[in-house]
Amino acid sequence: MQTATTLEVLRSAVDLLRGKGKRLALVPTMGALHEGHLTLVREARKHADAVAVSIFVNPKQFGPNEDLDAYPRRMAADAALLEGEGVELLWAPDVGAMYPAGFATNVSVGGVSDGLCGAARPGHFDGVATVVCKLFNQVRPDVALFGEKDWQQLAVIRRMARDLDLVLPHVAAIIGVPTVREADGLALSSRNQYLSPEARAQAAALPKAMRQGIEALLSGSAVAPTLAAIEAHLLQAGFESIDYVTLADAESLMPIEATEPRPARLLVAARIGGTRLIDNMAVEPAE
Ligand code: PAF
Repeated sequence: MQTATTLEVLRSAVDLLRGKGKRLALVPTMGALHEGHLTLVREARKHADAVAVSIFVNPKQFGPNEDLDAYPRRMAADAALLEGEGVELLWAPDVGAMYPAGFATNVSVGGVSDGLCGAARPGHFDGVATVVCKLFNQVRPDVALFGEKDWQQLAVIRRMARDLDLVLPHVAAIIGVPTVREADGLALSSRNQYLSPEARAQAAALPKAMRQGIEALLSGSAVAPTLAAIEAHLLQAGFESIDYVTLADAESLMPIEATEPRPARLLVAARIGGTRLIDNMAVEPAE
């Protein structure tokens, strides 16, 4: 695996891979890699001949009171994991390489960025869109893979790729990969390591409450009381606060008030032990 920390080295590594006529996949990450990321890498291999992974803790997507400083950084261990997966290229710029002095551009995606995490974390999706737009231009991948755990992020990136003519053929080249879960259903996340053992045990209530809510919706329960019951379940299980429990159109993310025969998604963000967890599930019967 070649590691690039400057744009010049990255460009020649990408040219070399492309010179051999290889299709290139990009898996953008912020490091602290877990099985969810490795699943993205393995999936990437199915769509391309060579896999590039980026590791960059992007300051632009953290709010002033968020966990930028505390965010886990484990470059050596991450690189070893990627070596083990046979990744060809690691792009690991520092902040100065990604945002050189004088950097002044902001990519802002309207509509899908506005509600849910966009409302709870002002500026977050501008930071995500800006860095992902740069990553696409830097690596010029044929496909890029993102976890469905960040469902809204995926929608924002797809909208941006379509609107800015990035990564042809746009949306089809942006591949969403289903969330990887622990045995008790908790979605894997680099932030799970902030949880104390007690909070970690309580956090399993999140997927459980969501699954129960989905079963209730599928059996004909009304939307508003079902969402209220999920909130009550979470607060009772030890969650301190809830940013949102929303039923939304899976693509536009517009809230929906009645289940209809269209793809719907249940999305939740809630805090436990000081850590903000997000999750989302399709409103369909469990497999
Ligand atoms: O999902 C993440 O890890 C980040 O938001 C991403 C897409 C790598 C952009 O920094």
